[in-house]
Formats: sequence, C-alpha cells, structure tokens
Amino acid sequence: MSDQNPVFIPGPTNIPDRLRRAMMIQTRDHRAPDFVETLRPVLEQSKKVFGTKDGQIITFPASGTGGWEAAVSNTLSPGDKVLIARYGMFSHRWIDLCQRHGLDVQIIECDWGTGAPAAEFEKVLKADTTHAIKSVMVTHNETATGVLSDIGAVCRAMNAAGHPALLMVDAVSSLASVPFKMDDWGVDICVSGSQKGFMLTTGMAILAVSPKALAAMETAKLPRTFFDFRDMMKANASGGFPYTPPLQLIFGLKESLDMLFEEGLENVYARHHRLAEGVRRAVAAWGLKLVAKSPDLRSRLPCLWRVLRRWPRPDEGQSLPHWPSGDADRGHGSVGPCHHRNGHGRSRLSDYTGQRRCRGAGLFPQVAG
Ligand SMILES: Cc1ncc(COP(=O)(O)O)c(C=O)c1O
Repeated sequence: MSDQNPVFIPGPTNIPDRLRRAMMIQTRDHRAPDFVETLRPVLEQSKKVFGTKDGQIITFPASGTGGWEAAVSNTLSPGDKVLIARYGMFSHRWIDLCQRHGLDVQIIECDWGTGAPAAEFEKVLKADTTHAIKSVMVTHNETATGVLSDIGAVCRAMNAAGHPALLMVDAVSSLASVPFKMDDWGVDICVSGSQKGFMLTTGMAILAVSPKALAAMETAKLPRTFFDFRDMMKANASGGFPYTPPLQLIFGLKESLDMLFEEGLENVYARHHRLAEGVRRAVAAWGLKLVAKSPDLRSRLPCLWRVLRRWPRPDEGQSLPHWPSGDADRGHGSVGPCHHRNGHGRSRLSDYTGQRRCRGAGLFPQVAG
C-alpha cells in the first residue's frame, strides 16, 4: 500500500496493487468455451467467504444496491409484507427500495446507534400467525452508524417464533471483513459488493442465495429482467453470462479470494478487529463518544464518533485537506456532520499517520503522538 494515499472511508476501500494489476487485463471472449474455467471456480470459492455450502453464488454487474434489488425482485410479489427495522441510512434505504417495489413494509423504528432488534422481531413474528410476513431484512454492518448487528440472534428469534419468512441480510460493508456464517445462521440471501471487503473497484454485486430462497423465486411475481436469477444461473451453468460480464472484476475477484485465503479469513477478521479496537481506544482517550450505543454493537469497520466541531459542507470551501475525497469521512444521514467515520478496510497500522490531518483540522483533540 506504500504507493497510495490511503483512504479511511468505510468503502470503497483501498485497492491493493496486486488487485489493481489483476484487473488490468485485455478483453477476452466471454463466449469462448474456456470462459467457464474462469468463472466457475470464482463462484465456487466465494462460498467460503459467505460461510455456505448449500447457497448459490450469483453476481451481477452492479453495486450493492443492485444486489438488494435482485434479492427483492426475485423472491417477492407485489403487496407482499416484509419486516425491517430502521436504525441507520442503509436499513432506511432497504425500506425505500421495498416501498418503491410496491411491498407492504412493516417498520420497527430504532435509535440510530442500535442494531437489529431480535426480541422485537420475535414478538412481531409470533403475532403474525397467518405468516403474512414473507421476509425479514437486516443490515449486518450499518455503515452509517458503525454498528454491527447479531445476525445469529435474528435467526434464533425467527426460529423461536416458528416463522417461515425469508431472511435477507445486507452484508455489503461486512462480508470478507467480519465472520459471516450463512448456513449456520440460516440466512436466505446475503447481499454484498466488490468494493469493500473484496478490495476491488465498484461494479459487482455478489449474492449468496439459499435453496429456500430459490424455491421462493419460482412463485415470485415482481418483474425482473436484468436481475433475473434464473437467466444468470442458466447462463452460469455453462460458464456464460446472459449479457456482457464485468470481465476485469471477475479476474479481480479471483485474485481477491486468493489474497484472502493466503492471509487466512480468521487473520483478516482479526486484523480488522485490531485496527478498530486501536481506533476506539484512541477515541476513548480523546474523551469522544462512539455512536454505537453499547460495546457489543461496535463495528470493526467503520468506527463513528462525535467530533469537536462539525465537518464543513462541500460548498463551504476547502477547509479540510483533501476535502471532499478526504482521508476519512463525515457521518451520514441523521448522524451527519458532527460525526467522523473511520473505515479500516484494507488498512494497515502504518496507514494511520493520515489521521493527523483530521487532528490538525480541529476535529480531534490535539494530543501527542
Ligand atoms: C451497509 C451498506 N449497504 C448497502 C450499501 C450500498 O451499496 P452500493 O453503494 O454498492 O450500492 C452500502 C454502501 O456503502 C453499505 O455500506
């Protein structure tokens, strides 16, 4: 990473040189018979990161939001009821996306800084004796608040309620950075993207889909064309794509998986944990306050905390070095400009010298070191 100006935004992350090189390939014929040898192992190997043996990996040339749209439109029908808790900008956007698809969205409003309310979910699902709720949707890592929710607890709540709804999880900013156990937890669709834990450029939505979600697809009536799982799976089976594939990203993903497995997934998770804990201890030493309301909710990426003065808006001029791309980022949505977001994706300890700029700008207290 030495040749780069590291960013500390929660994503897109820094792209290691090895991955930039892997993506710098000449066009190949994606309809050639040997393309199957490129695509199939990438899909197969990705399963390890999702923690699934039974799930099907499906990718689209899209950002994570496209992955959400694919999850919703392939498994649900107009008017279907879904259950979502709003506790940050990304859970809010799931709600918006579902409403725009004509779904009947039951919302549990939570304080920003809290996570998925498993006990509340259980209560609502138990009361839904006719099983009108077809899906529960949860944002794993709420990038807007720095809160990591307990997906296992949500699954246990659904089991305790004996409810058959699908569980869809947004792991756009958590997958490949914190453990994800799709099969063990009982997740039906996990949505992720190329630009965070996989350390690639933006442009590939990466989903894992359970057999139960694939069964729901057979009767789902929401319209879909570009994001139709059936077209993608049929084409992938013979090594193809229903349209032009993002070839460079497929090669990048192959290399990214190699990198993750060489370091070891557990070591990758431990590195993020170590960096986040270091940042959190610095925040505590400065006497500043994290947005996450309790220690068990603290995300490993990003950390968010209240700063001493608000971040300037872009129209207020260049009062921070490197604004607006920045070394780090301000808060999102209702935890807006008075908060600082610090991402650790693909960071190393030596990258942290960049944080001095924020101290110089008066956002953090001036402390030695
Ligand atoms: C948790 C989470 N979900 C969804 C998204 C949206 O993904 P994308 O911007 O790739 O569409 C993001 C983006 O930052 C995110 O952090």
